[in-house]
Amino acid sequence: MTKVLITGGSSYLGQHLVPLAADLYETQYTVYRHDPWGQGFRMNVRDETAVMRLVASLRPDVIIHTVGSNRVEKMAQVIEQGTRNMTAAAGEVGARLVHVSTDVVFDGHGGPYREEDPVSPLHGYGRAKAAAEVVVAQHTDHVIIRTSLIYGLERMDRGTAWVAKALQMRHPVTLFTDQLRNPVWVNTLCQACLELASLDYRGILHVAGEQAMSRAEFGLRMLDWWGIGERDTLQLGLSDPQEWPADCRLDVGRAKALLLTPLPGVDTVLKSA
Ligand SMILES: NC(=O)c1ccc[n+]([C@@H]2O[C@H](COP(=O)([O-])OP(=O)(O)OC[C@H]3O[C@@H](n4cnc5c(N)ncnc54)[C@H](OP(=O)(O)O)[C@@H]3O)[C@@H](O)[C@H]2O)c1
Repeated sequence: MTKVLITGGSSYLGQHLVPLAADLYETQYTVYRHDPWGQGFRMNVRDETAVMRLVASLRPDVIIHTVGSNRVEKMAQVIEQGTRNMTAAAGEVGARLVHVSTDVVFDGHGGPYREEDPVSPLHGYGRAKAAAEVVVAQHTDHVIIRTSLIYGLERMDRGTAWVAKALQMRHPVTLFTDQLRNPVWVNTLCQACLELASLDYRGILHVAGEQAMSRAEFGLRMLDWWGIGERDTLQLGLSDPQEWPADCRLDVGRAKALLLTPLPGVDTVLKSA
């Protein structure tokens, strides 16, 4: 049976991915501080020795590297050094590397973006993820999944949770009408990661929901879904396009042609729930 190692089993994505992976593959996962099921391997991705040792002992066929969101401490190091370490370890054992990246490697001036469009990150997170992609691409058997805002319908995503908490505390919140994204249902993204684990596709793939919408539209859909009625301090507005990428729509045509996994947009997902 194929052996899969998932980094970041405790991430929002990882907590959905690990149980689904376990239905298909012999699955192990790493955590850093929190272990949702108490069966993970504690590992700091910045620690090269620890990474090499763990991967050498588990000898996975596939590594799905989810660690590296914009919420981690020492973000740039976790993303860049952590990915360098995981890539080197994958090379040592000949594992396929499925790497999760982001739409904000683009500057948001020219969406919808295709896989071959040049990256042009505007902020530190985007720059670190773009640098990590370059490292991953040096490993022959790799796939880089660029995705968008991740949401679920059973567990609130971290972005919506932040907004909901701020509104409940009556803090001002602005949802941006000019930032365009292709939010992705976490189940879709998990299925795509697992499908790509066993395909021989190599390179970058844009995996996101096929419906583009503004962060404001998305935020309001999520607040409705979760029944968050406190909106006195909520406003809609524009962001600074020099600082924050505006139009990061992803062209998902290649993923739609390649994958069996459907890529429904937010409205389709909500309608079928
Ligand atoms: N969330 C989104 O909307 C979104 C959008 C586009 C792309 N992505 C990408 O999707 C992936 C998952 O994002 P997410 O939002 O699900 O992540 P997340 O919930 O913010 O989770 C962060 C993860 O990083 C782990 N971690 C932190 N520091 C670490 C270290 N030094 N060594 C090892 N692990 C460490 C945490 O472990 P502990 O909890 O155990 O400490 C946790 O598992 C990321 O690669 C991100 O760039 C996310």
